[in-house]
Amino acid sequence: MKVLITGGAGYIGSVTARRLADSGYDVLIVDNLSLGHRESTGTLKFECVDLDDRKTVSRVCGDYKPDAAIHFAARSLVGESMTDPLSYLGGNVAASLNLFRSLVENGCRNIVFSSSAAVYGIPGSVPIDENAPVRPINPYGSSKWICEQLLGQFSSSGLLNFVSLRYFNAAGADIGNDLGEDHEPETHLIPRVVLAALGKYPSVKIFGTDYPTGDGTCVRDYIHVNDLAGAHIAALDYLLERGGSTILNLGNGDGFSVREIISLVKEVSGVSFSVSEEDKRPGDPPVLIASNSRAEFEIGWKPQLGIREIVRSAWEWHSMHPDGYSG
Ligand SMILES: NC(=O)c1ccc[n+]([C@@H]2O[C@H](COP(=O)([O-])OP(=O)(O)OC[C@H]3O[C@@H](n4cnc5c(N)ncnc54)[C@H](O)[C@@H]3O)[C@@H](O)[C@H]2O)c1
Repeated sequence: MKVLITGGAGYIGSVTARRLADSGYDVLIVDNLSLGHRESTGTLKFECVDLDDRKTVSRVCGDYKPDAAIHFAARSLVGESMTDPLSYLGGNVAASLNLFRSLVENGCRNIVFSSSAAVYGIPGSVPIDENAPVRPINPYGSSKWICEQLLGQFSSSGLLNFVSLRYFNAAGADIGNDLGEDHEPETHLIPRVVLAALGKYPSVKIFGTDYPTGDGTCVRDYIHVNDLAGAHIAALDYLLERGGSTILNLGNGDGFSVREIISLVKEVSGVSFSVSEEDKRPGDPPVLIASNSRAEFEIGWKPQLGIREIVRSAWEWHSMHPDGYSG
């Protein structure tokens, strides 16, 4: 079974690619290394490809002839998408369309797509299930929704089947394979707090302390990157055995506030660091928690790792790599 993995030099893609290879899949990673790290791909097959370049994407699909593809590659900074919407509504969407078209033209009919909880915008209620209204509030979320709609149209025209996975907050590290989160800039809470504990940032900023939550700070659902990798294998099995298309939330189904994460990092690291309280950021929903029951029902996936394993593995990996992959 041959699986093409776009964005496989990135955080979630590298962990998933390694898991697939270890499970006996033939894997080819394609990535333009704009945000990813060649080191994270190890000895797996790799081609430096920009998905914007349709001719090359088509050539790679024709040469490799994958049975399935997992499409992680994207820019994914919400703030950047507000200041540079074209890179998202143009770039991410056009790159995805190049890929979908090249796959279909070369006989590949199975796609797993990295979508996001950002498609839900500010949800009316939690936990959020897949029937919740889709109303993204930034170009990043919109680009994911447009790609899902493209996949839906390809699927209803009989061209392919897809599983779109709407991740909540990916976090943690794959310690066994020495793979972790190394983004520049890093905007995600857990690595930012861990890096503050390591002295890489002078303090941790809390944006908003009067939300209608237990301690006034935002609550998010964190899902371990190894659990996400497992969900991609289950999604591939679904495509190859059942041959339908579906959209699934991937989260733990639990919420943790910003203050709870900070306390846990302090406890796990044994390090104290300063915390500053800042104004709310526009567009930050108070609470985002996934309902993951459809994923369990449809692909038999259930997360195994909780918030302690997430924080402990992130702390361990960043302690070993305080400067990320380049360190
Ligand atoms: N990390 C999260 O918490 C999270 C949550 C929801 C959704 N997602 C989605 O999951 C996917 C992976 O996230 P991640 O955190 O691993 O991101 P990442 O930035 O670590 O990895 C993305 C990879 O894609 C590559 N890439 C980007 N544009 C490309 C292009 N045009 N051609 C070829 N390669 C390209 C980058 O070089 C990078 O290696 C993304 O699509 C993201 O939007 C992530």
